[in-house]
Amino acid sequence: MGKADAGAADFKLVGFKNFVRVNPRSDRFRVIRFHHVEFWCTDATNAARRFSWGLGMPLVAKSDLSTGNPVHASYLCRSGDLCFLFTAPYSPCISASEPASAASIPTFSHHACRDFAAIHGLGVRAIAVEVEDAEVAFAASISHGAKPMSPPVFLDGRAVVAEVHLYGDVVLRYVSYKTTNLDPSLPDLWFLPGFEPMDVSSAYPADYGIRRLDHAVGNVHELGPAVSYVKQFTGFHEFAEFTSEDVGTSESGLNSVVLANNEETVLLPMNEPVFGTKRKSQIQTYLEHNEGPGVQHLALMSDDIFRTLREMRRRSSVGGFEFMPSPPPTYYRNLKDRAGDVLSHEQIKECEELGILVDRDDQGTLLQIFTKPIGDRPTIFIEIIQRVGCMMKDDQGEEYQKGGCGGFGKGNFSELFKSIEEYEKTLEARRTVESAQA
Ligand SMILES: [Fe+2]
Repeated sequence: MGKADAGAADFKLVGFKNFVRVNPRSDRFRVIRFHHVEFWCTDATNAARRFSWGLGMPLVAKSDLSTGNPVHASYLCRSGDLCFLFTAPYSPCISASEPASAASIPTFSHHACRDFAAIHGLGVRAIAVEVEDAEVAFAASISHGAKPMSPPVFLDGRAVVAEVHLYGDVVLRYVSYKTTNLDPSLPDLWFLPGFEPMDVSSAYPADYGIRRLDHAVGNVHELGPAVSYVKQFTGFHEFAEFTSEDVGTSESGLNSVVLANNEETVLLPMNEPVFGTKRKSQIQTYLEHNEGPGVQHLALMSDDIFRTLREMRRRSSVGGFEFMPSPPPTYYRNLKDRAGDVLSHEQIKECEELGILVDRDDQGTLLQIFTKPIGDRPTIFIEIIQRVGCMMKDDQGEEYQKGGCGGFGKGNFSELFKSIEEYEKTLEARRTVESAQA
């Protein structure tokens, strides 16, 4: 058994304080980056347009009846490197007479897609990563315990797609290219064969500054087996973890582990519920409403969170996404002490106006905000983030930001709790003064 095998076999949650971050560079195959996220739904047109408008992700490509695909309707929204794909099934009677190759997503299944939408509502079916070679990635994963979902499929000799089980009804999709011609004007080259460009010249809305997927988080019943499984077949290492006790309040109701690839650009956190707290764990609520494990949130990185938030908030009540309630003013009074050396007075004011939370770790600073659940059920939501600091230079002298810079917002649990308590005290003081005056 190799070094990575030994590490993978003995996963144990140790908590934030005892966790020592090391990067053993133990990936079992070369992972390049997050490639896309596919949502399964019952009507892709409406879902894609809502996300496009709410997040500022122009609709750039399609594969549907109009492109000769009678199997599924798929629409692709893109902002920077972030690609969201929305897929819904057409009538199986219509596609039954067509060759299987008519579907541009070769792993699409009518039956599975219909079941998925009925059981989970709107949700993420696939987290896709670009790998050097999807065949190699699939073979390495299977030989290290991954449950196969789809063997490698060659698409027009240009791309390869394969899938393994991740958690719940979510798959980890491997995508690789056989060509170096990834012409940005041709989605059948830079995305997948069968996709045709949509008219982006008249596309509305414009981009609001979102650039890429930072992390994709899953909720599972039990962390131990889920983390061991993914660690074992990917070779990913533990990048961070925290338990309910670490966050300074037992109210969080969750334990969490973050897995990362060698370059720490593909971050896959997982949460499990914690029981016995006053309030029911939000993870348990998710598991019940989602009818099992699934993707809890997608953290989207903006290159200007203030601009992104201004644009998103403008659309909150007109078809966009609503945000969780902003913290009380006491949170921002304390923020001057916590982050006054990184954020200017104006930036702190802007955080308060937009309801942005701030946290930091030993390396950098994280600005974050969460939407309310994005569909009917209290399940999946979106996080918008910007990371500040941790700039490094690669071998070619190119500047890049270290993955996970500033953490994932662990400190905000206790900070929010504290500021709410302080705020409630100010309200009590006000009531006392008012009743004395009456
Ligand atoms: Fe997050």
